[in-house]
Amino acid sequence: MFGLLRYLKAREWLQVLLVLLFAVLQVRFDLLVPDHMRRITVLVQTPGSPLSDILVAGGFMLLFALLSLACVIVVSFFASRVSSGLSLRLRDLIFSKVGSFSMEEFSRFSTSSLIARSTNDITQVQQFTMSAMQMLLKVPILAVGGFVGIAGGGAEWAVAAVIAFVFVLIVVSCAMIVVIPQFRKMQGLVDKIGHTARESLAGRYVVRAFNAEEFHEERFEEANLGFTHADKTTNRAMAVMGPVMSLGTNGVILAAYIIGAFLISSAGEAEALGVFSNMVVMTFYLGLLFTAVKFIIKVLPRVPRAFSSARRIFEVLETVAEPGLGLREQAPAQRGTRVGGGQDAGDGVPSGDSCDTVISFDNVSFRYPGASADALEGVSFAVNRGESVAIIGSTGCGKSTLVNLVMRFFPATTGEVLIKGVNVKEYEREALYDLFGFVPQRSVLFRGTIRSNIAYGDNGRGAYRASDIENAARIARVDQFTDSLADGLDAAVSQRGSNYSGGQKQRVAIARAVCRDPEIFVFDDSFSALDGLTDQEVRKALTHERAGVTRLIVAQRISSIMDADRIIVMDEGRLVGVGSHPELMGSCEIYKEIAASQELL
Ligand SMILES: Nc1ncnc2c1ncn2[C@@H]1O[C@H](COP(=O)(O)OP(=O)(O)OP(=O)(O)O)[C@@H](O)[C@H]1O
Ligand SMILES: [Mg+2]
Repeated sequence: MFGLLRYLKAREWLQVLLVLLFAVLQVRFDLLVPDHMRRITVLVQTPGSPLSDILVAGGFMLLFALLSLACVIVVSFFASRVSSGLSLRLRDLIFSKVGSFSMEEFSRFSTSSLIARSTNDITQVQQFTMSAMQMLLKVPILAVGGFVGIAGGGAEWAVAAVIAFVFVLIVVSCAMIVVIPQFRKMQGLVDKIGHTARESLAGRYVVRAFNAEEFHEERFEEANLGFTHADKTTNRAMAVMGPVMSLGTNGVILAAYIIGAFLISSAGEAEALGVFSNMVVMTFYLGLLFTAVKFIIKVLPRVPRAFSSARRIFEVLETVAEPGLGLREQAPAQRGTRVGGGQDAGDGVPSGDSCDTVISFDNVSFRYPGASADALEGVSFAVNRGESVAIIGSTGCGKSTLVNLVMRFFPATTGEVLIKGVNVKEYEREALYDLFGFVPQRSVLFRGTIRSNIAYGDNGRGAYRASDIENAARIARVDQFTDSLADGLDAAVSQRGSNYSGGQKQRVAIARAVCRDPEIFVFDDSFSALDGLTDQEVRKALTHERAGVTRLIVAQRISSIMDADRIIVMDEGRLVGVGSHPELMGSCEIYKEIAASQELL
């Protein structure tokens, strides 16, 4: 929690100091009240006291009360500025940190947990910092002021105050022991509720079509009940505190009156007035002391929650990227170079534009984090400049995994992945992705228009021209369906492209990669949702209009890759054949099996 303080800016530190200053002033004004209280009590009890004296003393009391109120307002003003400024910064930091995560880091947190961390957890921290500044800061000042005042009044009052204080502290500590673990649990359960709800909402058609509502309701119920149970336990424990507080406050004031009564009855007539006014002032100091306790009780329940929220925020902010995979930022001027600069790796490996091998895998193996077996084993191959290389193999044989390694979404477990002769880990993020036009297996569209989805991102060469976008739309046959739409390329796309068909989304995703005008195309099963004719048309257009661009194409259908320069056949994470279609038909059993299954023999 205290680590979060490092995210405060100098200006906010100044505001924290102002909060502290005005908190001290407020208590100072509060502490000026009892002197005048004492004067009024004496004046009222003394026959013949002039009314004007009472009014002056009363006037001072009112003035100090108003000044104290003004200080409270100033404290609240700066406290809310600091806490909302901090939460704004934390939200920004989490958002950009998550944006720089590699897939491996993503897999450490679930999406709903990341959402909860950047919303609910930040709210918890914001509320805590706000109330800590409004209340917790004043506690030591109030406590010291109250105790010093009481101690000055005599030992009897001090003993009564200490007994009441210890009683309240014991009850509060017991409640905290119950509450703290429950608060910790609740944070995890918020995540569970989030991802259970997300899952059934995202798959709502499947849920309905399979009559699986009950199954999902039960899952949700389990998370919901867990949360409710923890919430109830904390609320019950916290509910005890209110009455205990009243008991403590009222009890101690009652004790003050009883002590006062004894002291007055045993005092002589001359001292009785002094004892009485002392008693009135003591009740004021006791009230001050209990305001401190009330503040503690108000803020304390937030402490465990705020601390566990702060820990969860830190987990995201302090996630360290895999060595060599940190998505390091660079100055714009450096874009196009790789980490360490230079165009040659210094070990004779040609790099940059002089390298004819665009993608190469050198004995690469890869295992997903937490998996028990390798998804890729000893994979070696090279793709030369301008070549079109296809990858084919059965479902789950590791094709997308191989693509993930080319795109540096995951680091190779052993072996090296080289892009233009340079280890993929060595690249600056933007420089690496400037090279690629990538179409993932599952098309992803963003809210906006078809045009904004095609002209998406930045290829390091300035804004896309309208003609680039239209060309890309034509090559990927996006125009085939946008021509019939009233807004054409400016037709709206809703969240995740849910208002377009799978094939339409796939075409937009292809157009997006084409518009980038990259050096390397990476298509991961990107033609699977297209009908045979469109598939052919798009591939033909790509070959003619983007000739010379290196292509790595993952495919399921042999018919769509038959014309590739080379085909790599994969099976269970290994390469089992490399060659052209006719060569493989003669030499590779697995390729022949695939061809047979597709009735190509
Ligand atoms: N994130 C992941 N974590 C753990 N294992 C994974 C992950 N993604 C894939 N795998 C496993 O790795 C293997 C290869 O998966 P991959 O997605 O590369 O297959 P694929 O060849 O692309 O299949 P498809 O043709 O169905 O797209 C599979 O056995 C799969 O279960
Ligand atoms: Mg795949």
